[in-house]
Amino acid sequence: MRKENNGDLEEYIKNNSRYNCLSERAAKFVVEDGLLALNDLYDIGLFHRDIKLKNFVISGIENYPNGPTIDENGCADVKLYVKLIDFDFVDYINKDDHRRIGAIFYMSPQIVNSDKYKNPDVFSLGMLWFKALTGE
Ligand SMILES: Nc1ncnc2c1ncn2[C@@H]1O[C@H](COP(=O)(O)OP(=O)(O)O)[C@@H](O)[C@H]1O
Ligand SMILES: [Mg+2]
Repeated sequence: MRKENNGDLEEYIKNNSRYNCLSERAAKFVVEDGLLALNDLYDIGLFHRDIKLKNFVISGIENYPNGPTIDENGCADVKLYVKLIDFDFVDYINKDDHRRIGAIFYMSPQIVNSDKYKNPDVFSLGMLWFKALTGE
């Protein structure tokens, strides 16, 4: 994979917003890229299990026309192109795997409870979306 040099999404948001957040349109743009990455993984029968801000690196940054790069809520308002990295916890979707791994904030209830899980990455991407919007 190509080495990107704009850092990861967590660092980017921290360094480029007042309140550690992305604007609604910026967050939506990132989540769209995230869904494409998940879709590619599922197509080959894998889940990632460590979806979080730190595991996306910035591969491109584009300003919205005429806009400031921080919006009225103190959130970064730019188009960020991101790439999923860190495949340490990747595994096959259909394997009977109950392991409780991943970052706790992003963990789906099934993983927290060590239940059998099918699709933990979508929940985690939802948490990433929440974190990106709220800075929490
Ligand atoms: N392709 C890449 N381009 C730029 N930075 C990268 C890339 N891959 C990894 N990094 C940086 O290295 C850090 C650690 O890499 P990662 O694969 O997530 O390993 P770890 O298992 O230690 O979390 C990432 O958070 C990111 O900042
Ligand atoms: Mg990582």
